[in-house]
Parts: sequence; structure tokens; C-alpha cells
Amino acid sequence: MLRFAVLGCGRIGRMHAETLGRHPRVDLLWVYDVATAAAAATAAASGAAVAADIDTVLEDDRVDAVLIATPTPTHVDLIVRSVRAGKAVLCEKPIDLDIGRVDACWAAIRDLSPRVMIGFNRRFDPTFRRMLDRVGAGEIGRLEQLIITSRDPGPPPASYVAVSGGMFRDMTIHDLDMARAFLGDVVTVSAQGANVVDPAFADHGDVDSGVVVMTAADGAIATLINSRHCAFGYDQRIEAFGSAGMLMADNQRATSVQFWGDRATASRDPVLDFFISRYRDAYVAEIDYFVDSVVAGSPPSPSFADGRAALRLADAAGESLRTGQRIDVALPGG
Ligand SMILES: NC(=O)c1ccc[n+]([C@@H]2O[C@H](COP(=O)([O-])OP(=O)(O)OC[C@H]3O[C@@H](n4cnc5c(N)ncnc54)[C@H](O)[C@@H]3O)[C@@H](O)[C@H]2O)c1
Repeated sequence: MLRFAVLGCGRIGRMHAETLGRHPRVDLLWVYDVATAAAAATAAASGAAVAADIDTVLEDDRVDAVLIATPTPTHVDLIVRSVRAGKAVLCEKPIDLDIGRVDACWAAIRDLSPRVMIGFNRRFDPTFRRMLDRVGAGEIGRLEQLIITSRDPGPPPASYVAVSGGMFRDMTIHDLDMARAFLGDVVTVSAQGANVVDPAFADHGDVDSGVVVMTAADGAIATLINSRHCAFGYDQRIEAFGSAGMLMADNQRATSVQFWGDRATASRDPVLDFFISRYRDAYVAEIDYFVDSVVAGSPPSPSFADGRAALRLADAAGESLRTGQRIDVALPGG
């Protein structure tokens, strides 16, 4: 049994704690949150005990692994403290919004044989995983074009927009990581953005509609399409086009029942509404993989370096938007 603690019991932390609480090879010992009510509710839902503070977790020699699901600005400090305490770490994305702080974090842990995985859960989505494997197996020949569409059902509150780090670092970062998994080495990044959804984004110098185009070292082109709103729900699709064909992953629905009538044909259920329901299987597979890698002593992936690379691409997209230039990056594929 791998013994776990969860730090941060908000939206994503509570869901992870419930997954860990049910996991046959995991013993969830502790949950901790600065908001004691959140910790208590998560403890009740997962069977863990509430830790009085972080030191209680980190000084407990029984704890093998820590899942960090606190707000982004706290990740670097908690990664460093957890690695220094000898714990394996699964940290939610992004590592931080500032690449300098990410590099300082790595400098503080790199000599400690860190076992750190970053929570890019979409790599574990069964549908996207299958596409990655089939592209990797050469089923569509040489990958020439990749299109990733990711639109949220609606904008987050203005208070969140203020601290989000901007659409590319907050939202596109998932797609940047996924694109690296498909493309291999990325060499250039260009971005366009617009304000068409909610004035709160422009008020904070952010965009709410964006397109990022990246080129890979082998000539493949990826187009990432993002919006902060979508009238029909959470729009999550991938198209991989190659010399010998195409693979497509469509949106997912609660059922596959279709309605045919006088006003519509082939109308289907709404798409799954947001990340917790759309990526439920991915979050479970992500935890399974992390448990396997810690038990086996193999390096976890997506790694800290993958987390840094996705942030570097997000920063390049921001720089392209500001300057109107195409940005050269030369980043290894994930
Ligand atoms: N992988 C994904 O799909 C995904 C989805 C949502 C959020 N996230 C990431 O997960 C992280 C948390 O996001 P969320 O939406 O769950 O936020 P949230 O605000 O719902 O939850 C954060 C929780 O952390 C607690 N907290 C704050 N500071 C703390 C500290 N120092 N120690 C312990 N607890 C502390 C808060 O009280 C809150 O309960 C963010 O980094 C976010 O980017 C990832």
C-alpha cells in the first residue's frame, strides 16, 4: 500500500482525495487545508484524517506520497518542502505562473532525486491516450497537422481572472502539454487573441478567445483553439491528420441516444458539462499511473521538465500576442 496525503481540499483536491480513498493500493492517511471546513468535508468523503498543519503530514514517516492541490502560487514551496521530506509528489498544474520561480524550485530539489509528477491529466484520458498511441504506432503515417479545440462552458469569476496568469498559462497550458505529447520537439509559437466574451478579461489585460499555432522540428503544425465560453458546453476535441489518414476524438456525452424528429435529426445529449465529469476517467488513470511509477521506482511522467516546458510555451504564446512576432523556442517533445 502506498500511503498518501492530500494538501488542498478545494474543487480538484477533494475529487483526488475521493479517488485515493477508494484506491485498492492506496492508504490515504491525511488531508490538509487552511480552511478547516474543506478539510473536514474531504476527510469525511475519503476516510482520511484531518492534519492540523503541513508539518504533521511532512514529518509523518509513514507518508510516501503527497498530492498538492492547493492554489498555484503555493505549489513551489510545497513541492520543495515535500521533496526535502523525502515524499514523492503529484502536483497539480501549473507548477507556477513564473518561469523564474519554476527554475528556482528545480534548483532547490534537483540534487534530492526528486520524484515529481505534474497533473496534466488529459494525457491519461483514455480517448486521447489511444490517439497518442495510434499516432505513435504510425497508423496515420507521418503526423502533419494537429488541431486541439478546448472551450470552457463559461468564464470564471472576475476574481479568478485577476490571478489566473492569463488564458495561455491558465487554460491553454493543458493543450500545450498535449501538443508536445503528439508533436515531439516544438520549434516556433505564434498566437492570436481577442476579447469577445467578457469585459473582465480585457480589464485584466487578458484575452478570452485565442489561437496558438506551433511548428514542430519535423514540420508538423499544431493549432490550439481556446475560448472562455461555449454555448453548447465543454468543447474538447482533437484531430490528428497525417500522410495516411486522420484520427478524430469527438466530444463525449452521457449517453449515445439520438433523437430524430420533425425539427431535428440525430440530435444527441449535451456534451459532458465540465472538467470533473469529462475527465473523470483521466483523473483516475493519472493516480493509477503515479502509484505504479512510485511503487516501481520509475520516473513519473509528465515530469517537472514537462511542466516547465508547457509554461515556457504559454509564455512564448503571450510574447507572440504582445509583439505580433513568431517566437522561436526549441523545446524537446514530452
Ligand atoms: N488538472 C486539472 O484539470 C485542474 C482543474 C482545476 C484546478 N487545477 C489546479 O489545481 C489547483 C487547485 O485548484 P482548485 O480549482 O481546486 O482551487 P480551489 O480554490 O477550489 O481549492 C484550493 C484549496 O486549497 C486551500 N488552500 C489554500 N492555500 C493553502 C495552503 N497553503 N495549504 C493548504 N491548503 C490551502 C484552499 O482553502 C482551497 O480549499 C490549482 O493549481 C489549479 O490550477 C487543475
